[in-house]
Amino acid sequence: MEASFWFKSWDLGGFYTSFHRHDIHPYVLQYMSPEEIEGKNILVPLCGKTVDMLYLSQFANKVIGVELVEKAIIQFFEENNLKYEQIDEETFISGNITILKTDFMALTKERIGRIDWVLDRASLVALPYEMRKDYIRTLDRITDVGTKQLIVTLEYFPLINSAPFSIQPNEVEDYYGAGHIINHVEQPNLPNHGMVRKWGLEYLIEHGFVIIKYANNLVLEKLKVENILV
Ligand SMILES: C[S@@+](CC[C@H](N)C(=O)[O-])C[C@H]1O[C@@H](n2cnc3c(N)ncnc32)[C@H](O)[C@@H]1O
Repeated sequence: MEASFWFKSWDLGGFYTSFHRHDIHPYVLQYMSPEEIEGKNILVPLCGKTVDMLYLSQFANKVIGVELVEKAIIQFFEENNLKYEQIDEETFISGNITILKTDFMALTKERIGRIDWVLDRASLVALPYEMRKDYIRTLDRITDVGTKQLIVTLEYFPLINSAPFSIQPNEVEDYYGAGHIINHVEQPNLPNHGMVRKWGLEYLIEHGFVIIKYANNLVLEKLKVENILV
């Protein structure tokens, strides 16, 4: 979605930011266990004010969230009673959590350093198809061989032309098929999910993938060859 959509969503709050969970996502607890993330550097693209960052920060060396909207960043620190410092226009720091106020697609490797883990919960599904390519391209550019990623996506029917977008597992496999080992670890049907009632959906599946990058730049080349990226 365009930036204005997200600024408006955070201004309105409530229903418009109902993607925000008050608990730690169960897939995060399951696949990013304390042993797994101990001492690691973790990137959370399109982080909103997710409390997953609080959990991760207990064990990680560093958590870097990236978020367009300052209101979301301030709410994260204030709602969790965290003292924070704004060290420049775009950088907010509290302990080992840094949140960068920037367009994720503008991020550089130099700015974030080595990343061991990426948490994508509701990031890919927040973006329309055209923007997803840029997102994948950015991630491939700023991560290294060995980076692991937990991806949480939604698949539902009938389709809605707004965030969160429905993404089929083969789309994730297409994006990351080159240069990554892909483990499709979760795919429960969630008939009691709030969206099912709200939108009268026939079904909704919450997919979880754990992927590991084993080669650089293959994603970009594959997408170019298949003409997925232009
Ligand atoms: C669907 S929410 C998901 C938030 C979070 N991952 C969670 O689990 O609650 C998407 C978030 O990404 C932010 N966002 C959207 N486009 C962005 C971009 N290009 N760069 C950085 N943040 C962005 C929005 O403001 C919103 O907070």
